[in-house]
Amino acid sequence: MAELLAKAHRNKRLSAVVACITRDVSSILDLGCGIGALATRLADTFPSTLVVGIDRSRYLLSKMKKKKTVSRILGDMPTLPFRNQSFDLVVAVQVLHEIFHFKGPKALNRTLQNVSGLLKKDGELVILDHFNPGDAPISFKIPEEMRNKLLEFQRKFKPRKITYYESSEGWLRISLRDFCDFVTKIWALNSELEEEEMSETHTPFTHQELKKLVQDAGFRITHTINLTSLDRHLKYYGITVEPATRLPNRHILLQARKRGERE
Ligand SMILES: C[S@@+](CC[C@H](N)C(=O)[O-])C[C@H]1O[C@@H](n2cnc3c(N)ncnc32)[C@H](O)[C@@H]1O
Repeated sequence: MAELLAKAHRNKRLSAVVACITRDVSSILDLGCGIGALATRLADTFPSTLVVGIDRSRYLLSKMKKKKTVSRILGDMPTLPFRNQSFDLVVAVQVLHEIFHFKGPKALNRTLQNVSGLLKKDGELVILDHFNPGDAPISFKIPEEMRNKLLEFQRKFKPRKITYYESSEGWLRISLRDFCDFVTKIWALNSELEEEEMSETHTPFTHQELKKLVQDAGFRITHTINLTSLDRHLKYYGITVEPATRLPNRHILLQARKRGERE
């Protein structure tokens, strides 16, 4: 069930990225393409466009469906082994937070600067990623059997200390940021991905921080929206939040255009 949930969400996210592409593009670079779900979708949607996927995992690249118009490149960002001004569009779906986490903010900055260099004039960047919703407190209840999961998550999660406390009648009070990491990482506990998932956060940068990174790398932001509600996760795990709580969505979709020399 958790897998189905993840797949349905992923399809929705990929559709949102594809829907952003409204201009003719002859070449697209997919950063951190993984097994190529998006690259394949892009190739199917734009059959005359060259799609290049780059990823540092040889294993994931080997799982990519072979297609005539899709090439796979093994590479480790921030290095991007392409000629300047060679792409119309670069997409980065759920990869920037990994670069931020595993290589640090400077490497992320450098990645975005390199992306700006290899985009053609007026080229576009589309980013879809997790974001930090902030530390406002929220109250929630979880089924008794999930309490142990929360304790286990608190014990195993490495990026920062997770704190929560119990208020009246079984309500637990926690920051939105910690809540989002908990709810979106329960599935990983005791799975083969536990170590990796417990060492990185799903709430790496706020909207403002991401926007600044993108602007500092030479882009003008044209559009941002939030995507993917947490409702299905809450329903699946039997978690309730205090009535009237406004839960943030899980992802930000940001579109930006390479700034011209005179801008
Ligand atoms: C969460 S997955 C997202 C995969 C794909 N974009 C998707 O949405 O299905 C992140 C991907 O980024 C790749 N990745 C992480 N850091 C990288 C780096 N420094 N250089 C190249 N690829 C990287 C990982 O190998 C992984 O395939």
